[in-house]
Amino acid sequence: MEGDRILLTGANGQIGTELTIELQKIYGEDNVIATDIREPSERISRFEILDILDSSKLDAFIAENKISQVYHLAALLSSKGEENPAFTWKLNFDAYIKLLEIGRDRQLKKIFFPSTIGIYGPTTPKRDTPQNSSFEPATVYGISKFTGELWSDYFNKRYGLDVRGLRYPGVISHKVRPAGGTTDFAVEIFFDAREKSSYNCYLKAGTRLPMMYMPDVMKATLELMHADRSSISTSMAYNIHGFSLSPEELAAEIKSYLPDFEISYNPDHRQAIADSWTESIDDSLARRDWSWNAEYDMTSMVKDMIEQMIK
Ligand code: SER
Repeated sequence: MEGDRILLTGANGQIGTELTIELQKIYGEDNVIATDIREPSERISRFEILDILDSSKLDAFIAENKISQVYHLAALLSSKGEENPAFTWKLNFDAYIKLLEIGRDRQLKKIFFPSTIGIYGPTTPKRDTPQNSSFEPATVYGISKFTGELWSDYFNKRYGLDVRGLRYPGVISHKVRPAGGTTDFAVEIFFDAREKSSYNCYLKAGTRLPMMYMPDVMKATLELMHADRSSISTSMAYNIHGFSLSPEELAAEIKSYLPDFEISYNPDHRQAIADSWTESIDDSLARRDWSWNAEYDMTSMVKDMIEQMIK
């Protein structure tokens, strides 16, 4: 890790906020540069404004700062992405191709590309979704991320670029409220439980989706990125699974700590997106290749979230 300089794009988001800190612990504060298009809400020791749509600036930034690895987190998520599909494609996909070209030309050591359960679609098996399957995503977010995976693989095979990716499930955490996703309910519910003891959910009670608690998200990301390249058998993105839950199951678990908590349901356009996704994931390839194993299930996640946020 000696001499590594890390760039994070989209660092103000739910994952970037926590990953910046974890990477600083490993590489040192001076060697991790967090970037986004807006100033962060909390001070980060090395932060710069950087718009990934400006690829010449991105290229110059990488050269000037002697960046060796990029964690490319900037993207619009499933729900927000539907508001302007052409722009979402530009941000999620066109900007990524440019980064791959920069990575190849500047001989970056590694690039991390976050993919998603949003790549699954109505023809994908709903339970124990396999690593390789039928992918017909229903959102521009899913289309851009699945195409991104294919290009990651292409750049690896054709140019030897070391690109690694994960198909993140819904991510649950207590530091930053996520924005623009379909799995956001699993975080909003905790914020609203704290603020008003009730939550009005935009999905139906029984909608089960795959989720993961942030400490496991950090663990998976860092384990993958630090695994020996010889053990990585795909440059697309790995399936990873934490646990599955529905709004109803999550509300019942929260109620066991906060008896006054109430949930109501008012499904909106996000229901169709959630219905196109799958319920649980077969992550055996990640288990085999780099010994992936999630530590949190729904019960231990809720206990920790309540302790961190409410009690
Ligand atoms: N959390 C994302 C979303 O809901 C899924 O990757 O869009």
